[in-house]
Amino acid sequence: MNHDAGAGLLNSYAQSKVGNDTIFGWWARYQEAVKNGADAVNGTIGALLEDDGTLAINKVVDEAIRAAPPVEIAAYAPLKGLPAYLDLAKTLALGEHRDAMDECGISMTATATPGGSGALFLAAANFANRGDKVLLRDRHWGPYKGFLSGCDLDSEVYALLPKNDDSPYPFVDIEDFKAKLASLCSKQDKVMIWLNDPAHNPTGLSLTPAGRMAVLEAVMESASANENVGHTLLLDSAYHLYAEEPHGWSQTILESVEEGWPWTENFLITFALSLSKSHTIYGLRTGALVSIHPDAEVTEKIDTVMGVTGRQTWSAAPRVAQYTVSEMHASSEGGEAWGLERDRLQSLLVNRRNLFKESCEKLNVPLNPTHDGFFAWLEHDEPQKIAEACAEQEVYLVPLTGGVRIGLCAVPLEHIPRVAEALAHALK
Ligand SMILES: Cc1ncc(COP(=O)(O)O)c(C=O)c1O
Repeated sequence: MNHDAGAGLLNSYAQSKVGNDTIFGWWARYQEAVKNGADAVNGTIGALLEDDGTLAINKVVDEAIRAAPPVEIAAYAPLKGLPAYLDLAKTLALGEHRDAMDECGISMTATATPGGSGALFLAAANFANRGDKVLLRDRHWGPYKGFLSGCDLDSEVYALLPKNDDSPYPFVDIEDFKAKLASLCSKQDKVMIWLNDPAHNPTGLSLTPAGRMAVLEAVMESASANENVGHTLLLDSAYHLYAEEPHGWSQTILESVEEGWPWTENFLITFALSLSKSHTIYGLRTGALVSIHPDAEVTEKIDTVMGVTGRQTWSAAPRVAQYTVSEMHASSEGGEAWGLERDRLQSLLVNRRNLFKESCEKLNVPLNPTHDGFFAWLEHDEPQKIAEACAEQEVYLVPLTGGVRIGLCAVPLEHIPRVAEALAHALK
């Protein structure tokens, strides 16, 4: 392809958008292998598949969508979202701690978005100054970079895991986090942190309660010490409803509030909620940005800003899933039936992860710590080489910056040992 094609038409930022998505590229290689008759294993894609390789679908959601009245499918949703859905979004983000937070006087606002991606875009567009850096883990979901660069933002990273094995916080390098946060505060008057927890993509890592508290306290202390710097902690909740502690963050925040934490004006916590995975409606593009702050005037302002940004970007988010899912959860029967299906899908992940960890341990594959969600991770300096060596054994994984992502969500249980064996072989 001529890389200068369209140079006279596309602006210079548009021209910087190149290449195929790595994940889809490796998925295509898996599909090609199958087409050529190979008994290939698919560990590439980020969608939950049943053990027979078909897309796992929460049948309670599927049935409810199919029963939606025509007008709920055809009509626009209100620009900020259907009120019942906005209410549900707060509950899905905060879980059983929502009422207690309300009682503590914490204000909340939600805006419906096209998926979690829409929520990330709203945050990128509004909570950081153009040209500034957003704080990420050094291992993160690739599209973060694109959302940020589209808003003229860059990133700073801190190490995923502590160098010290004895750290009380085994799943966050809290010292590096604090150092990078302090450095950004010395240069910017707004600092935003994006943290995909629990069930991190690409590692499957979830912070412990102590780890969450350490991160929260670090941001709180930074906000108190830098009162002229706005701090936004964005919790990317793309997979949280498949985690063992789905609402661990709201529990940690609530504990902190109940202990008398002085929540300063310059600190906002916001959840980027996605229903794509939790309700298996990837294509219906439904999510929300749910923000919490002690001052109702702040959340009201955020409500307006997010509504206007959505209007100017995608108009309103799709209506049908907002309607269906909020109706479904409003009936205790519907919510329970959804939960049973969710549990079934979660157990696919749990069984695959347990077997994978066991298989890797037997074969001395130095798998990263992994707890919840769709993925596991092998840290490696030459991820491409490892993924190629696995592909030679007809096991398809995804090489990313710093390691290889294993899409447990896609691998049938019976193929899990083959993935561990392929990695063991590749590492030799
Ligand atoms: C870490 C992370 N955040 C957010 C999303 C957004 O998901 P969606 O826009 O499909 O709801 C994804 C989807 O893969 C993800 O992996």
